[in-house]
Amino acid sequence: MHIGRNDPCWCGSGIKYKKCHEGFDAKVAQFEKMGVPCIDRKLLKKASDVEKIKESCEINMAVHDIIASRIGPGISTQQIDDWVYEETVRRGGIPAPLNYNGFPKSVCTSINEVVCHGIPSKDIILKEGDIVNIDLSTIYNGYFSDSSRMYEIGEVSEDKKKLVRVTKEAMEKGLEMVKPFTPLINMSQAVYDHVRENGYHVVENIGGHGVGFEFHEEPYVGYTPFVVENVLMVPGMIFTIEPMVNMGTHEVVTDETDGWTVRTADGLPSAQWEIMVLVTEEGNEVLCW
Ligand code: MF3
Ligand code: CO
Repeated sequence: MHIGRNDPCWCGSGIKYKKCHEGFDAKVAQFEKMGVPCIDRKLLKKASDVEKIKESCEINMAVHDIIASRIGPGISTQQIDDWVYEETVRRGGIPAPLNYNGFPKSVCTSINEVVCHGIPSKDIILKEGDIVNIDLSTIYNGYFSDSSRMYEIGEVSEDKKKLVRVTKEAMEKGLEMVKPFTPLINMSQAVYDHVRENGYHVVENIGGHGVGFEFHEEPYVGYTPFVVENVLMVPGMIFTIEPMVNMGTHEVVTDETDGWTVRTADGLPSAQWEIMVLVTEEGNEVLCW
């Protein structure tokens, strides 16, 4: 497809191509030659899309803040699920996990050796010494947000505290590498290096994703330099940084009974933090945490 320099830009801005994405396309072409492709341009977010996505993020973060103020020992994960449903719907949102590929609840609650996709239950009670990931995702006006936070329940061991801290630092090191017209693998490498320097392991086959128009979009975002779709980070791209970090082996096992709960193969603890980041002309903007 050829587009004239004075034609309207392909992005829908209404501006002439030469004043809009011509420079963008030229830069992308350079990286494509080096084997670092751009994602489908339909997935790039315009300023108006970002505004809508931010409204979804606002709800997601507000619900996180409520959970943060209420979580503690003796609380069941079903109670957290009830709070998430009520507080999301009250704000006009829909919890994205509910019925997603058959997921039965509104939030993922992953305790200790559970790596991700823990299913809330009235029989699972948080106790002193647990670490738990609360992974929230919201649909608002058709736009998606997704972020997760870790909680320490009461006094937890130094080992677990360090795992939670290092996992957050790894996410932040990855974030520092999010810059336009650089390869996504730079972000993955930064996460991976920090985790390995601390003697932990990154889960390899469950990662992050593009997000905004859908819950999970291209690309697959890995946090090792060997399992990653090495696309080019470009302005308008939104994706998650959500490394799962295991104290022991990187190997994980999915529960055969419920089909969802992922646990570490060795039973040692795992931690995860998740943010949603927008690639901008200048660098990046965290949209949801
Ligand atoms: N929130 C998870 C993510 O970060 C996805 C959960 S899928 C679900 O991508 F079905 F388990 F909710
Ligand atoms: Co996610």
